[in-house]
Amino acid sequence: MKSSPQSTPSTHPNTGADPEPAKRPIGVFDSGIGGLSILKALRAELPHEDFVYVADSGHAPYGERDDAHVIDRSSAITAHLLAQYRIQALVIACNTATAAAISTLRLAHPLLPIVGVEPALKPALALSKTGRIGVMATRGTLGSAKFRTLVASLAEQATFICQPCDGLADAIERQDTTKTVALCAYYTRAIGRFGINEGEIDTLVLGCTHYPFACATLRQLVGPSVQLIDTGEAVARQTRRLLPSPSEAGTPGTCRLLSTGDPRALRHAAQHWLGLDDPVDSLLL
Ligand code: DGL
Repeated sequence: MKSSPQSTPSTHPNTGADPEPAKRPIGVFDSGIGGLSILKALRAELPHEDFVYVADSGHAPYGERDDAHVIDRSSAITAHLLAQYRIQALVIACNTATAAAISTLRLAHPLLPIVGVEPALKPALALSKTGRIGVMATRGTLGSAKFRTLVASLAEQATFICQPCDGLADAIERQDTTKTVALCAYYTRAIGRFGINEGEIDTLVLGCTHYPFACATLRQLVGPSVQLIDTGEAVARQTRRLLPSPSEAGTPGTCRLLSTGDPRALRHAAQHWLGLDDPVDSLLL
């Protein structure tokens, strides 16, 4: 099935007036299924809002591509969500796209509330007792000016051991469990010794929205005492703060799911992780 514009009219049929801003959906995108970890938190925080989710699986992974590719894709997706769905806000549910493209998107769409995702170093710092914090993220995120500035601003307060995890988002995207487990084992070993004693890493930041889907594997590898930090709930709270008037009651919100790649991957992940039975439409973009 191909994506088509929303069937609801964009203006009131009699008056021609704009619909209530709160009736417009919130756009959410990621390079693939990873942003579902953010969508899950958004739906819990804003159960009466409608969402349109784009998985850019046809152009993934973002994390090992150059900035120009990620900026082009983020711009095309945002323009599509605005033109076809008249989104009231945008959530960039991807650390890599946030680092590469959020300033471009904000410049291009100054009236659109835009929320991004970045590795949760500050919350990790607040929780860590040993002052040794592991950070797993894509090469793109860790190499970005935005991330370097963030680490530099906190460098005196803790030691951050940053590990680019090539291939991990892709393995999770393909739902390749064997490879996911092998890569998680390899990268956690590379980060160092985990635990709560002095000199050990007691906090691990999941700096890519795909990684929470490997949480059970990571938990087994690092042990029960280490804190795993992701950003879903914080992003959802920030989205609520930026909405002009969040819907607080009424019918439960809907989710429209779109994929530029194989729709079956998104459908399976949305069913498995969010219990969503909605069909996934193919998006040619
Ligand atoms: N989920 C994306 C992130 O948070 C990246 C995955 C990819 O490399 O495409 O960075």
